[in-house]
Amino acid sequence: MRLPTVNLGSSGRLIGTQGLGCMGMSEFYGPTDTAEALATLDAALEAGVTLFDTADIYGSGANEELIGPFVRANRDQVVLATKFAIERRADDPRHRAVRNDPAYIRTAVDASLKRLGVDVIDLYYMHRRDPAVPLAESVGAMAELVQAGKVKALGLSEVTGDELREAHEVHPIAALQSEWSLFSRDVERTAVPAAAELGVTFVPYSPLGRGFLTGSFAAAEQLTEDDYRRHHPQFSGANAAANAALVAPIQKVAADRGVTAAQVALAWVHQRAEVHGLTVVPIPGTRKRTRLAENTAAASLLLTPAELTTLDGIAAQVTGNRYADMSFTSAGRE
Ligand SMILES: NC(=O)c1ccc[n+]([C@@H]2O[C@H](COP(=O)([O-])OP(=O)(O)OC[C@H]3O[C@@H](n4cnc5c(N)ncnc54)[C@H](OP(=O)(O)O)[C@@H]3O)[C@@H](O)[C@H]2O)c1
Repeated sequence: MRLPTVNLGSSGRLIGTQGLGCMGMSEFYGPTDTAEALATLDAALEAGVTLFDTADIYGSGANEELIGPFVRANRDQVVLATKFAIERRADDPRHRAVRNDPAYIRTAVDASLKRLGVDVIDLYYMHRRDPAVPLAESVGAMAELVQAGKVKALGLSEVTGDELREAHEVHPIAALQSEWSLFSRDVERTAVPAAAELGVTFVPYSPLGRGFLTGSFAAAEQLTEDDYRRHHPQFSGANAAANAALVAPIQKVAADRGVTAAQVALAWVHQRAEVHGLTVVPIPGTRKRTRLAENTAAASLLLTPAELTTLDGIAAQVTGNRYADMSFTSAGRE
């Protein structure tokens, strides 16, 4: 079964109703089998996935380089999304500095185009917001990239509803990418309603709670030393045990329906978007073809009202923040 398509904002582009997050193929979630990761890209396209998500910081450029040949080989089918705004430091892997100034943006886009080996980026996101730089300046600089033919459509990540409205006045925003899952629902306060009002496609990232919602790990200690999730507040210490107990009702719904917890988590995001009246294209991340098939099949799973009621109650019980530093999120500025 191929995925149905939806509009990418008002860009005129149709995209498969689920995308693929490529981040874990290069960094953050433990060791990767590169051949299997590359085969997963091909399998995704075959299944009707068209939105492929990367960023300049994933693997400090390595993720853009990894998917570049695949993008070039399938250029007219792939909707390539990448991002700028976060600076890293080679001597401190956990250091992050947010840059939204026009000079930085102009340099960043050229570096991404070079690493990807393409002439144009289909969807270019501002990865994080630096409130010290007026949005009109940053989005104005992004709009110039559209005029220059380097970028086709614009996106933002982790902005509030008001910030999205302000940016959309400078140039149409095609997509808002923020964390949205059974565990993380703060975006439903202002960002989701604003996206619905403006016709902006919502791209939920980490829709599987970085894997935690699938039950594939229950505590940070079960992950390898270099796994970024070892520092995630919801997966460590006492929070991990409390939150792992919240995965049980997801697994129960899955068992009753003969599907997997990952599929329930993805179906919930699709159906929650219908409640808010907006288009969503979740981008679950996987490096494995079996999981890709499992995740794309979730797009046709319809949860019952009773199941949705059970699942809707989970987020309010989650303990710990979704980032160690919440100023890195839209919720931190609401
Ligand atoms: N804008 C932002 O700030 C931001 C932040 C984070 C992520 N993102 C983007 O969003 C994408 C998705 O988010 P994410 O990767 O953080 O989290 P996610 O999609 O919630 O979960 C990914 C994790 O779940 C595992 N997984 C995937 N499908 C599974 C299944 N069916 N059963 C069991 N486990 C499964 C993956 O492992 P395997 O790979 O081993 O399958 C991986 O460890 C990223 O790839 C990235 O492109 C954006």
